[in-house]
Amino acid sequence: MNNTRVLLAKRPEGLPSPDCFILHESRAPSLAPGTVRCKTDFLSIDPYMRSVIGGNHMGQTVEVGGVIPGEAVATIIESDNSDWPVGLQVRCKTGWQSISDHQTAELSRIPQGLTQPSLALSILGMPGLTAFAGLTSLAKVGAGDTILIPAAIGGVGAMAGQLCRLAGAKTIGISSGPDKCKIATHKLGYTHCIDRLHGDIAEQLQAVAPEGIDVYFDLVGDPILTIAAQQLALNGRVILCGLIQDYNGQIKTMGPPPGLWIGKRATVMGLVVYDFEHQREAFERGYTPLVEQGLIQGNESIYQGLAQAPQAFCDMMNGAALGKVIIAV
Ligand SMILES: NC(=O)c1ccc[n+]([C@@H]2O[C@H](COP(=O)([O-])OP(=O)(O)OC[C@H]3O[C@@H](n4cnc5c(N)ncnc54)[C@H](OP(=O)(O)O)[C@@H]3O)[C@@H](O)[C@H]2O)c1
Repeated sequence: MNNTRVLLAKRPEGLPSPDCFILHESRAPSLAPGTVRCKTDFLSIDPYMRSVIGGNHMGQTVEVGGVIPGEAVATIIESDNSDWPVGLQVRCKTGWQSISDHQTAELSRIPQGLTQPSLALSILGMPGLTAFAGLTSLAKVGAGDTILIPAAIGGVGAMAGQLCRLAGAKTIGISSGPDKCKIATHKLGYTHCIDRLHGDIAEQLQAVAPEGIDVYFDLVGDPILTIAAQQLALNGRVILCGLIQDYNGQIKTMGPPPGLWIGKRATVMGLVVYDFEHQREAFERGYTPLVEQGLIQGNESIYQGLAQAPQAFCDMMNGAALGKVIIAV
């Protein structure tokens, strides 16, 4: 059985380019006793991978020549464990490859009743759980709040905006270009969307939220973090979650001066989604029915075939993708 793998060809400097990766075919070894073999169906492409291939993401790295790590929805194609039978679709960390072998402890079931399996990697997966943790568990967003969310239509942002809308909040997204802003307002139901590529972000924010913002969900770092801090309402909450600009090595976010937080009586919280794993089951159980009823929309940008993974990753890192990036393997 052949295994198609995407390997790290070289570490990127700045924005990654497709030549940082190389496609490789090899024969899959015979299956070790006690393990199951999975065929990757949908592979999740995420910003944290930029830090991993750069050499360090919370202690995780990949060497040049290694398979790029990643989570996927996959189908079991060989098994000697009747709890995990052939044909079952599961979620597991396959990496960027078509075939992978696992201990059953590494597998999890995709949410029950979910008809579009790729959503288990986006709004109902790790990005969705991140949005839930940030806005529901930490910021406790409610009716009357005004929320600002950059990267508004991506993996985390799409769920974040919809959770806040369902909570009765006024939602202001930031995205790049008119097409992405239209997805934000027309498909995901943001109240407003600011185009970060056209016009002054601070002025546009002031125009749509003259009363200030109650919650800022930071997914990108500076300069937007500092703009948001300047326009925070009194007693505002700020969730620090991601630094996409810094991952590409373009800038080093310093953030606003502490005096600004003091003046605003702000509460600033850091978020790491791994701390909320215990909430995953309840999150999936609570939100799968809303997704199935169409009350929450997925917004995925699906690329066809593993060979597209390098380009898809680069598109995500420079804002060219129209949603959460997924590879249909
Ligand atoms: N702390 C945690 O546990 C945790 C967990 C998950 C994700 N995260 C972080 O959350 C962030 C979003 O992740 P995601 O999976 O939802 O990614 P994503 O939104 O699907 O993709 C990244 C998006 O970032 C935006 N972007 C790129 N360059 C930018 C720039 N220079 N300035 C402003 N925005 C820029 C682009 O959106 P637009 O074109 O729409 O602007 C791009 O589509 C990342 O920083 C990620 O590392 C953190």
